[in-house]
Amino acid sequence: MKYSDQPDQPIVESPSSITRRDLLRAASMAVAAGAIGGKSLAHASNSQPAPAATASAVPGKPHPFPDKFLWGCATAGHQVEGNNTSSDLWTIEHLPESMFKEPSGDACDHYHLYPQDISMLADLGFNTYRFSLEWSRIEPEEGFFSNAELDHYRRMLSTCREHNLTTLLTFSHFSMPRWFAYKGGWQNPAAPDLYARFCEKATKHLGDLINYASTFNEPDIPQLLNWILLPGNGDTSITAMFQKTLSKVRQQLNAPDFASFFIGDSNRIREGLIAAHNKGREAMKSVRSDMPVGFNLAMLDDQPAPTDSHVAEKRADVYGPWLDLAKKCDYLGVQTYSRAIVGKRDLPPANGAEVTQVGWEYYPECVEHVVRYASKETGVPIIVTENGIATLDDTRRIEYVQRALTGLQHAIDDGVDVRGYVAWSLLDNFEWMSGFTPKFGIVAVDLATQKRTIKPSAAFLGNIARRNSL
Ligand code: BGC
Repeated sequence: MKYSDQPDQPIVESPSSITRRDLLRAASMAVAAGAIGGKSLAHASNSQPAPAATASAVPGKPHPFPDKFLWGCATAGHQVEGNNTSSDLWTIEHLPESMFKEPSGDACDHYHLYPQDISMLADLGFNTYRFSLEWSRIEPEEGFFSNAELDHYRRMLSTCREHNLTTLLTFSHFSMPRWFAYKGGWQNPAAPDLYARFCEKATKHLGDLINYASTFNEPDIPQLLNWILLPGNGDTSITAMFQKTLSKVRQQLNAPDFASFFIGDSNRIREGLIAAHNKGREAMKSVRSDMPVGFNLAMLDDQPAPTDSHVAEKRADVYGPWLDLAKKCDYLGVQTYSRAIVGKRDLPPANGAEVTQVGWEYYPECVEHVVRYASKETGVPIIVTENGIATLDDTRRIEYVQRALTGLQHAIDDGVDVRGYVAWSLLDNFEWMSGFTPKFGIVAVDLATQKRTIKPSAAFLGNIARRNSL
């Protein structure tokens, strides 16, 4: 047990060899440490009444979330596993003048440390773990499927089961096998069949341990980023900027057809992803027809600018096709972090607005608004599969979570069918092009020693999970 050098921000260290009992004690200490401004925002024990600081709580009357509500944390393979060397992104990260701030390297070495990370998650009070498969480990060369790597993911799923955790398994979270990217990634006409074959193999090997499967993480990102302009670059959107790097990357790799999730023609990528979702889902269902299958959609809380707003156009462009597909799914995963004021494109946050480490407006109310919208549009059960903020100030994260959940509860009280809330992220991890700088984790990671440090927000949210109530 060790406190940080910031007196107002005590944190608790969790060495690699931490025991279950140490961890529980640490969590309680961190909760006590999470008291802000003299008001304790969390309680260490299940039996405590809801905290006074909770807006929707009636004193003495806990206001529970629905029965069997899923409370979890999420990670993604490439962001935490480390040494994902057969993937497209590993290749791009190591190019001269790479668009990545730094390479993913060992990341959080979750590939080896998953037993302690999963046990920590359960000990904190969560009942759900969302993580992803790395297709490039399972099929590192076209047509070669590694049983050893499939067994690795089987062990991860079994570990979850041992800890009574519900598993949300994403089959594809942005990264792809290098060979697949060399053939054009999602732009390759053969991509849907190649992906479906992978889905079938993986479901055969792992299906009995999967509670919820997802074909894709945020397949709408290329379109969503098209609405966000690069500051100081006129009308250039982030997607357009990515597209511009395509020819350079192809040249550097001497790979004329190379395309990845981010770098390519966004319209062709979408076509490929939609076909791959349909075929992948079919393949999964052919093995386990009763396995719930959906996908995870990136959604901003889009609000109209006072003049010349294109909100309806944006929604139709970015979410439209996916919301239609979701109607045929068993559930929809909704991932939201902030709002966008939509004019001709998304406007930058207003002057003076609080923004997080990655420049997004601090706006936890997005959760309530987005689940209401997604549920109304699709009619299927909703799971919030990602929400959180990047910050160095964990007290801001605690307030964010509290406000996000208060809003979520209002939506549930109004009858919106929400089955769970999964925080992004369990660990401070590799935030794609931004490298390791943004801190989205409720648990910190020392990249040199791989030591985990539980932040007060982890205990705060874990205790809400345990109580099933704010
Ligand atoms: C992605 C995560 C990412 C997070 C924060 C989501 O877009 O699914 O992989 O780290 O947001 O940027």
